[in-house]
Amino acid sequence: MLDRSKADFRPPAPYPAAVRPGLFKLLVRLKRNPLECWSADFFREPIAKVRLPFTDAFLINDPSAVKRVLMDNSTNYPKDPIQRRILAAGLADGLLSVEGARWEAQRRALAPLFSRRTVSHFVEAMLAVGGQFADKWSKLGSGARIDVAAEMALLTLNTLAFTIFSDGIGGDFEEFRLAMNAYFGVIGRIGALDLLGVPQYVPRPGHRRLRRTMAYFEGVIDDIIEIRRRRLARLDEGEGPNDLLTLLLRSLDPSTGRQLSLAEVKSNILTFLSAGHETTANALTWSIYLLSQSPQWWARVREEAERELDGPIDGLPDRLVVTKAVIEEALRLYPPIAAVSRSAEKGDRLGEVDIKRGSLIVIAPYVLHRHQGLWSRPDIFDPSRFMPDARGSIPRFAYMPFGVGPRICIGAAFALQEAAIVLAVLVRRFDMRLAQNAEIWPQQRITLRPANGLPMDIVERARG
Ligand code: HEM
Repeated sequence: MLDRSKADFRPPAPYPAAVRPGLFKLLVRLKRNPLECWSADFFREPIAKVRLPFTDAFLINDPSAVKRVLMDNSTNYPKDPIQRRILAAGLADGLLSVEGARWEAQRRALAPLFSRRTVSHFVEAMLAVGGQFADKWSKLGSGARIDVAAEMALLTLNTLAFTIFSDGIGGDFEEFRLAMNAYFGVIGRIGALDLLGVPQYVPRPGHRRLRRTMAYFEGVIDDIIEIRRRRLARLDEGEGPNDLLTLLLRSLDPSTGRQLSLAEVKSNILTFLSAGHETTANALTWSIYLLSQSPQWWARVREEAERELDGPIDGLPDRLVVTKAVIEEALRLYPPIAAVSRSAEKGDRLGEVDIKRGSLIVIAPYVLHRHQGLWSRPDIFDPSRFMPDARGSIPRFAYMPFGVGPRICIGAAFALQEAAIVLAVLVRRFDMRLAQNAEIWPQQRITLRPANGLPMDIVERARG
């Protein structure tokens, strides 16, 4: 590990250009890495306007304007067409994509699935998945090189598969995983045609080729749901596998007593797999990277893991205080969802700025979390910001890796719990060193990930 104990550590990130790029450069950078589009003024201005060929766009960094868009006046700001495009295909009926009364009904029905109480029942499953990966790494031998980014993607997928379908997926998990990666690779891709507003009925290159994979993947999900539905029909309430699929099939909208349709159950399974997989994997990947560059925080996380992991399972996530501070700081510097966007249905006023109907509103946690007016030493890794004695001084609408307002991430508690448990398990068991010559660079590709993965050399510690 590098000794950075004395120096401030500025983790890798583009240095914002002094001037804004012109339209052509903007499009090139958007395609290559949208993080490179933000010039220095965006990190200083409370609200910055960008003229696009088809509309005006505004980047919002003023916490009270963020609150107005995402919370107080959120009905005026539905998700915009580009954001919808990311969520299209199999996710169309799921919580991420639906709007209005349908969204309200689904959110009410799904809220109990992700309550703190339900999520706390998954501590054991998360410990088990972390342990399985540690055992797998242990077999690779001392000094083995692994791509932590790829491993975390697999791990978070396993956790979801385990917590959604606790009795397995009824087939070859590896085949399922490959099909799933291909599936989400297709539906999440945004090309120039989308940015230019070309309608969805115009075929996108590559889609036809992957249609069979997508059909296979959806078929597997359909079968699992159908088998479980028949099984639950034979059982009493309260019986059956204790997992998210059972909860989904039994969930009722508390206001109307209506059950989710099978299409909604399926869309929400796809939504959880998609929204909960890469995001949490990136949170873990960046946390491990940042820790590997900071021996003192690594030591503090390990000390906490050694003290707490052998204690009672009850309340374990709440006792991983340092571990969570590191994860929250990783989510500040590298928010997996680097930007969310909305479109203004009617005109509005945000701070000093008039917003015309149809304007594109962008709230970019990546910029907000590094804004010079909101943070001290914004580019420096410092988890102490999130320790209990300091956490309260962070303005509520200046930090939002999970979004805010009614559409805040429903899986936030699940993700934070999983990340804390897995990080603690892995740091306790392994020393990890960044591979020599590794080039770590953040790239926004739907989620914010290290462009070349995270190659690390791992050594298992002797167990006492
Ligand atoms: C570190 C991990 C995660 C991050 C950073 C994250 C981030 C976000 C963000 C920023 C939003 C709001 C998007 C917007 O306002 O446009 C969101 C929504 C959502 N997330 Fe997450 N998420 C994570 C993990 C998860 C997990 C584990 C699940 C489920 C298993 C999940 C399911 C969802 C769903 C269903 C929504 C839509 C909520 C709604 O519209 O009512 N997320 N997430």
